[in-house]
Amino acid sequence: MVSYDDADFGVAALNTPPDSPTKDSPISTQYATYKTDSKSSALDVPPRTPTHNAIEVPALRSPDAHAAQYMHSLSASPSIKERRVSRNSFGASLPIPRSKRQSRLSSVAYPAEDGRPVRPGMPPIQPTRDILASQVQSVHPDMAKAAKNMAFAFDIDGVLVHGDRLIPEGKRVLDMLNGDNQLGIKIPHIFLTNGSGKPEVARTEQLSKILQNPVSTEQFIQSHTPMRALAEYYNTVLVVGGEGYRCREVAEQYGFKDIIVPNDIVAWDPSIAPYRVFTEEEKATSRPRDFARCNIDAIMVFSDSRDYATDMQIIVDLLRSENGRLGTLAKDPVSQRIPIYFSQGDMLCPTEHPIPRMSQGAFRIGLEAMYKALTGVDLERVVYGKPELATYKYADEVLASWMADLHGEERIPENIYMVGDNPASDIVGGNMYGWNTCLVRTGVFQGGENDEENPANFGVFPNVLEAVKAACRKELGDEFQFEWDDRVNPVLHGSAAVASAIE
Ligand code: G3P
Ligand code: MG
Repeated sequence: MVSYDDADFGVAALNTPPDSPTKDSPISTQYATYKTDSKSSALDVPPRTPTHNAIEVPALRSPDAHAAQYMHSLSASPSIKERRVSRNSFGASLPIPRSKRQSRLSSVAYPAEDGRPVRPGMPPIQPTRDILASQVQSVHPDMAKAAKNMAFAFDIDGVLVHGDRLIPEGKRVLDMLNGDNQLGIKIPHIFLTNGSGKPEVARTEQLSKILQNPVSTEQFIQSHTPMRALAEYYNTVLVVGGEGYRCREVAEQYGFKDIIVPNDIVAWDPSIAPYRVFTEEEKATSRPRDFARCNIDAIMVFSDSRDYATDMQIIVDLLRSENGRLGTLAKDPVSQRIPIYFSQGDMLCPTEHPIPRMSQGAFRIGLEAMYKALTGVDLERVVYGKPELATYKYADEVLASWMADLHGEERIPENIYMVGDNPASDIVGGNMYGWNTCLVRTGVFQGGENDEENPANFGVFPNVLEAVKAACRKELGDEFQFEWDDRVNPVLHGSAAVASAIE
């Protein structure tokens, strides 16, 4: 099996030493992070001052492999197995936020999620069930220990939901992992989605309703979530994709300082997008300025384009301009080109439509082809999201932090299970990161026994519930019960049958 830890993934990783461990970054002590050679890519980010708060992860793979059949020679690597030689973001630095926990070191008190009152300075009120659960756990110490040493990373679309529609097994799984199990224990899980286009709070609130279970932003990663770190590198950015102005909102929350969206540019000069019908409302809500006097430092494609023609035109204009100044045409298409980042590389996405729909990867491939045809050179770009290493490293940060919230220990559990429906993102990324991978049949994958290119190493399951049950049986034993029994009496060694018999 290939692994991110293999030594064949490139000069940048081989020639540069790991970061020094810091007390603020427990993950970097466990998984070496690497600085890239500054000559390795046209997309190297500008140098930062030491006060910054990001980890730089080298980009090591091509998200094009699964789309090779749709591409011409600009796809350097037609084979999944040779993905690392692709000219894609290979060698570039992908910054990710350093640690979720740092943001929690403030003195702000947050109300408990379960609605229990917060009593400053006093121990939390423990409901009876929590007391019972901890007694049951003390009766089964090995099982409880194993439950704290495993975790799940769930893909969302095609595993837990289809768009806004619940996949019923998804709710049952979350009930179980949130404590409806023999031990009454919370089994750590995070959500790792290539979805995008809304602030994290809005998306987790929506998901909580659909899944009828709490979903915290602290256990949630969208494709653009790690791109928050890029706010430290660029001042003026063009943010592309998503509904209305929601991605501007996302970028604001990430701390980007000067955010432009395509509508602002169309409002300034409608002739830039000749086929666009620009409504009065769009005009009124946009923020035009004199873009002939303003340099855009980078392009961030956060979500699916709602208007390919306008977005591609503006992006190509900027990529061909002198350092991001609209209305100019660079003499050298490479040295004066501003960087472009994509939040994920999925070609297809399952939706309500019977055949999966084109996603950001398809948009990018079209853009690359146009750019190449117009300039004669390949477009260097960086892609975040699954299966990009940076996204998995960030997942570790989130998981360790979530472990601290749940069990008071900031560490990464040893046995992590990724449950996904897309072999080309969920499974290949999980396999390369050394996680156990479970492929489900409720989404993109509709193949035979296993995926031929990227087989799931733990197996293929009809749905997420079967995958989670199999993983729990492996880690916790075949006797592990997937329901909490209120009649349980821990004094009688957790046997509900005995307890009820003597009541
Ligand atoms: O590819 C688009 C996106 O909706 C996929 O989401 O949750 O399957 O990673 P997810
Ligand atoms: Mg999916």
